[in-house]
Amino acid sequence: MDLKGRHFLTLKDFTPEEILYLVDLAEEYKMKKKKGILHDTLRGKNVALIFEKTSTRTRCAFEVAARDLGLGATYLDPSSSQFGTKESVADSARVLGRMFEGIEYRGFEQSIVEELAEYAGVPVWNGLTNEYHPTQMLADVLTIREHFGRIKGIKLAYMGDARYNMGNSLMIVCAKLGMHFTACTTKEYFPDAELVKLCEQYAAESGGSITLTEDAMAGTKGADVIYTDVWVSMGEPASVWEERIKALSPYKVTMELMENAGDQAVFFHCLPAFHDLKTKVGKEQGEKYGFTELEVTDEVFESWRSLVFEEAENRMHTIKAVMAATLGA
Ligand code: CP
Ligand code: NVA
Repeated sequence: MDLKGRHFLTLKDFTPEEILYLVDLAEEYKMKKKKGILHDTLRGKNVALIFEKTSTRTRCAFEVAARDLGLGATYLDPSSSQFGTKESVADSARVLGRMFEGIEYRGFEQSIVEELAEYAGVPVWNGLTNEYHPTQMLADVLTIREHFGRIKGIKLAYMGDARYNMGNSLMIVCAKLGMHFTACTTKEYFPDAELVKLCEQYAAESGGSITLTEDAMAGTKGADVIYTDVWVSMGEPASVWEERIKALSPYKVTMELMENAGDQAVFFHCLPAFHDLKTKVGKEQGEKYGFTELEVTDEVFESWRSLVFEEAENRMHTIKAVMAATLGA
C-alpha cells in the first residue's frame, strides 16, 4: 500500500483497504511505542500545524507523533499568524509548502483545507473542519477493533447533532467498513440527504447499513457502541445552546440507554465532554438550564463501559500513521 504524497482530507477519498492499512500501521506504531522501539525515520523533515480552533488531543497527538517520527513541528495558533486574516489560503499554502513537508489544518469550512491541499504541493491533513473529523475516525476504529476484536458488523448509534463533523464522519467510516450506523436524533439534526445517499452506496458494497431514527430506545437497542459529542460545536454561536438543549436532551446518553443497548454496549465520545459542571462552559449552560451534566451522564462517562480515554490515546498512534504513510516513512 503506497499512500506517499496523498492528502488526508476526508475518508470519502479513501478505500476501505486504505483505511484499514492506516489502522494496522497505527497498531504497529503503538506496539513500538509501548516497547520503547524508536521509529524516528522521518528525521530532517518538518510539518506545520495550523489551528484556527482550539484543541488538546489533536494538537498534542500531532506534536508527540511528529517528535516520535523525528519530525520538527511548528504550531500556528488561531491568532498569531497571517493565515486567513492578512494572507489568503492559497498564498499561505504556497509559502508553507516551501518550508514544510506536510501541513495539518484545523478550522472552519472544508473548502479551506481543500484549497490548502490544492496549493501546498505537500500532503495536507484535516485536523477537524465543520464538515469532517477524519483523524478521529481512525482512532475510533482502532479502539473498536481493540475492544471487540472486529470491525465489520459492529453496530454504532450516534446520539446528537448528526449534521456536523462527527456525525458525518462516523456515518462515512461505518459505511465504508461494513458497520451498522444509526443516527439517533431529532429529524432536524439528521445528516445531509446527499451524504446519506452516498454512504448508502458505500454500505451496499461493504455490508454495512445506515439508519436514521428519532426513537432513542429503538435506535440504541442492540448497539455495540453508543457515541455522542458536544451539543454545540466550536465556532457555533452560544445562542444555539437553548435550541440544542431542547432538541437533544431526549438523546442524552444515560445508563438506561446503555442498558437498553445491552451488556456488550460501550460508550464513545471524541472529547471534550460535558459530563459534569467542572468546566466553564458546562457550568454556565448547566446552571442556566438546570442540568448537572449535558450530552452524557457522569455515571456513564465514569463507568466500565466508557472507552473515551482509550480513544484519546489512539489519536496519537493513528495520527502518527497518517503522517508516516503520506510522508513515506
Ligand atoms: N477529539 C478532539 O478532536 O479533541 P481536541 O478538540 O482536544 O483536539
Ligand atoms: N463537534 C465537535 C468535535 C470536537 C472534537 C466540534 O467541532 O467542536
